[in-house]
Amino acid sequence: MRNGPVSTPPRVLPPNDPRQYDDLAGEWWRPDGAFAMLHWLARARAALVPPASRPGALLVDLGCGAGLLAPHLAGKGYRHVGVDLTRSALAQAAAHGVVVVNGDATAVPLADGCADVVAAGELLEHVPDWRRAVGEACRLLRPGGLLVLDTLNDTALARLVAVRIGERLPTVPRGIHDPRLFVDDQELVAECARHGVDLRVRGIRPELRGTLAWLVRRARGASAGTGVQPRVKATWSTAVLYQGSGVRHG
Ligand SMILES: C[S@@+](CC[C@H](N)C(=O)[O-])C[C@H]1O[C@@H](n2cnc3c(N)ncnc32)[C@H](O)[C@@H]1O
Repeated sequence: MRNGPVSTPPRVLPPNDPRQYDDLAGEWWRPDGAFAMLHWLARARAALVPPASRPGALLVDLGCGAGLLAPHLAGKGYRHVGVDLTRSALAQAAAHGVVVVNGDATAVPLADGCADVVAAGELLEHVPDWRRAVGEACRLLRPGGLLVLDTLNDTALARLVAVRIGERLPTVPRGIHDPRLFVDDQELVAECARHGVDLRVRGIRPELRGTLAWLVRRARGASAGTGVQPRVKATWSTAVLYQGSGVRHG
């Protein structure tokens, strides 16, 4: 007979299965948890968002997850509306002041031109029909509105760095990506142009020294969150991770 508690093995889900976000719900807001890198990327994405140009300006955060962008928007003057498929993540986003909408980024239940800013952080590489999500993002923007996003490129290097290496590090949950969904940067620029958004892209990466220090702090015992978080900086190549921003003309 066995003694002690019987532990339940984690269920194994197909790559990119959204139910993984439910299984990882406790990780979102842990600065040294499985979603640590999303915190670093959220800060870099928010840096692309200027202060609101009018009272009541709306920022729609597609695939908002648990609302990690929220603290970085504080004081910028936006109403922050988050759209996501995952209810367990939305509950946490709501607790951080995000007005949440449970919905699909490819069919968003919000009006045309309602948004001053649309953010799509680390979303497109999870959406089987990313072109529809881009169409929705652009539809939501008012003329003059700003699209900001970041995603993984459809390259062999991105598959190596983000999946084969990244998913073995504590910064990226294993199986969270399906590399077949990664998004070619030039195809994304062309798709945005078709919808009236002039997207400029640039490569980004976490700074190496800070990331290594973070990994060492974490390996020494779950105190990684107490130190300075690694910064995400611009890099010369878009081949792995890239940011885009662009204004909708109209
Ligand atoms: C990698 S997380 C990024 C979350 C957040 N943007 C951040 O950077 O912290 C991807 C999120 O996209 C959501 N998601 C995936 N496919 C989606 C879809 N078709 N519509 C809306 N949300 C989706 C997931 O539920 C998850 O919360």
